Amino acid sequence: MQLSGAVVLVTGASSGIGAALVRRLAEAGSHVVAAGRHPDRLARLAAETGATTVLADLARPGGGRDLAERALARHARVDVLVNNAGIGWAGRFGEMTDATADELLTVNLRAPIELTRALLPGLCRHGGHLVFVGSIAGRLGVGGEAVYAASKAGLDTFAESLRLELDGRGVTVSVVVPGVVETPFFTRRGQPYRRRRPRPLPADRVAAALATAISRNRAEVYVPGWLRLPVAVRGLLPATYRRLATRFG
Ligand SMILES: NC(=O)c1ccc[n+]([C@@H]2O[C@H](COP(=O)([O-])OP(=O)(O)OC[C@H]3O[C@@H](n4cnc5c(N)ncnc54)[C@H](OP(=O)(O)O)[C@@H]3O)[C@@H](O)[C@H]2O)c1
Repeated sequence: MQLSGAVVLVTGASSGIGAALVRRLAEAGSHVVAAGRHPDRLARLAAETGATTVLADLARPGGGRDLAERALARHARVDVLVNNAGIGWAGRFGEMTDATADELLTVNLRAPIELTRALLPGLCRHGGHLVFVGSIAGRLGVGGEAVYAASKAGLDTFAESLRLELDGRGVTVSVVVPGVVETPFFTRRGQPYRRRRPRPLPADRVAAALATAISRNRAEVYVPGWLRLPVAVRGLLPATYRRLATRFG
């Protein structure tokens, strides 16, 4: 997929990884549709990059479908959908309210499914690319982040299954799996990142990986690459992995 001239819809564009990606894509000559909830931040990003902006609350059932309709009303077609918007929550599962779990599952999993469903007919007609921003939490599981990890594991499996279903239909699929990234994500979830290692990566590093995943049609990208290792150990030596995970967290 040529980035130059492509119409790319990026969710979660008002902050962190999404905002960094909008800047990269605009530099590469894409027509970016930047979606988020904060009009001021989106307006600043639009002034800087020339992106079109769309306000969308993806925590609302139907929010993904509405966003797709509004993006198509602006540009008539979308070539690439980047499902990046996401929220976290950290704490004991028993202390999480139903409303919080519902919001998290809606933003992280239901909205990308809705958006994908709404845009897929057009993508199949003229060819296109789907990108899903997962998380290492969804590959390995993380104590204290059970619902977040489950939402990302669901997103992963949705993407993998779609890739199989869409084979030969002109639509390609990428999953990008970040580790820890320096964005407002942790403050927003109400619990800062406290570990010394791994050190958080700059958001632009993930944005660069996302841009490459689109332009080179990469099925799966870990950022950083060494994250493949614990995932491989978990697959090949599950008992050893669990012992290490329990010990080192
Ligand atoms: N940071 C990390 O360490 C890390 C690691 C692995 C994966 N990820 C994933 O990377 C993605 C981007 O996160 P980030 O780190 O860049 O976090 P971030 O800076 O908090 O950005 C999250 C984005 O999602 C949007 N969003 C949240 N709730 C929304 C809603 N109800 N409707 C529409 N948009 C909504 C936010 O929009 P508003 O600002 O307009 O509310 C914001 O643009 C997420 O899917 C996250 O799970 C992050």
